[in-house]
Amino acid sequence: MKLLVTGGCGFIGSCFIRQVIAAHPEVEIINLDLLTYAGNPANLAEIDRSPRYRFVRGDIRDARVVDELVAGVDAVVHFAAESHVDRSTAARAGAFIDTNVLGTYVLLDAVRRLAPEARFLQVGTDEVYGDVAWPAFPDEDAPLLPSSPYSASKAGADLQVLAAHRTHGLDTVVSRCTNNYGPYQYPEKVIPLFVLNALHGEPLPLYDGGTQVRDWLRVEDHCRALWLLLERGESGQIYNIGANQEPEVPNAELTRMILRATGQPESLVRPVQGLRPGHDQRYAVDTSRIRALGWAPELDIARGIERTVAWYREREDWWSPIRSGEYRKYFESFYGFALGDPKRDTSASSS
Ligand code: NAD
Ligand code: TYD
Repeated sequence: MKLLVTGGCGFIGSCFIRQVIAAHPEVEIINLDLLTYAGNPANLAEIDRSPRYRFVRGDIRDARVVDELVAGVDAVVHFAAESHVDRSTAARAGAFIDTNVLGTYVLLDAVRRLAPEARFLQVGTDEVYGDVAWPAFPDEDAPLLPSSPYSASKAGADLQVLAAHRTHGLDTVVSRCTNNYGPYQYPEKVIPLFVLNALHGEPLPLYDGGTQVRDWLRVEDHCRALWLLLERGESGQIYNIGANQEPEVPNAELTRMILRATGQPESLVRPVQGLRPGHDQRYAVDTSRIRALGWAPELDIARGIERTVAWYREREDWWSPIRSGEYRKYFESFYGFALGDPKRDTSASSS
């Protein structure tokens, strides 16, 4: 089986590739990734010498590159995206529309012409349902009400995929997953940002009182669900994926878990307002459709956070180049305060 994975050097795509190369000896993977700020070849260091893995640096919006890679594949697993809500609201959102909507269209068009039998798995987000009032759990037929330029662009991508199924008969599956956490996540997202800041004794910028709820799912569980959908998902169907944490975990509670796991005091929390315009209060999804296929997540979020903290403590080799590079400038310009002296990074993992 030959897979084209897009965005495989990012957080979730790299987990998927590591998992599939380890567990499925019959699978060959081509990874098409542009290596934006979020793409990091180090995420794949443990498998990049596998004869069943090939990396191509390129843009999903570039039809020439895409055409060459799509011909002959059995499936496309599409992760590549601009993925951070704050970047989509803080600046012009053109890159989000370009990569997430147009890029998805370029891939679908190539599949239609050059690999019409291939399965197309669209890796989507639950954020397309928008702000979900308690106690609702939207199922896959719920209306799309995205709040941010990011989630609106992902909704646009999902709709392109559904249209390609209906119009051209492509074999598509759309997944919509809740927030992921785990190893190799770029520290613009809240969990790795708070973990690394806590390990360095630096402030944790908690937005808007920390009352918001996300349904945190381990990235490994998400990737197992995606493999299941590749093999057994019904063509043309949409599948929500989520942990269904019970009780639900507001950001303030998540922050306390991170502080406990890092041994740091609550005084590190820095309440901030106004950094996320249109901040969605709650995400939650009905996951009965994927559970009926036999998938179930691991639920112990406190234990998951401890394991995640342990990973970041051990992997200074991974995060140190990120925290001492462009990220430092992003952080200061977005949050309005600087991360500490880069020299402090060298002792942080032993704190
Ligand atoms: P990420 O930002 O870590 O990685 C995105 C990857 O896409 C990077 O490797 C980047 O280099 C690559 N990329 C960006 N633009 C590209 C382009 N034009 N051509 C080729 N490659 C390009 O993202 P992630 O957190 O791993 O998310 C992966 C997918 O899963 C995204 O589609 C995202 O919307 C979706 N998703 C994410 C979450 C989450 O919690 N992170 C939850 C649900 C769904
Ligand atoms: P994030 O990790 O950016 O994911 P998403 O926006 O896709 O849900 O944010 C998760 C939650 O954490 C969200 O409610 C915003 C909040 N948050 C903070 O409180 N501080 C931060 O510095 C960041 C990045 C997010």
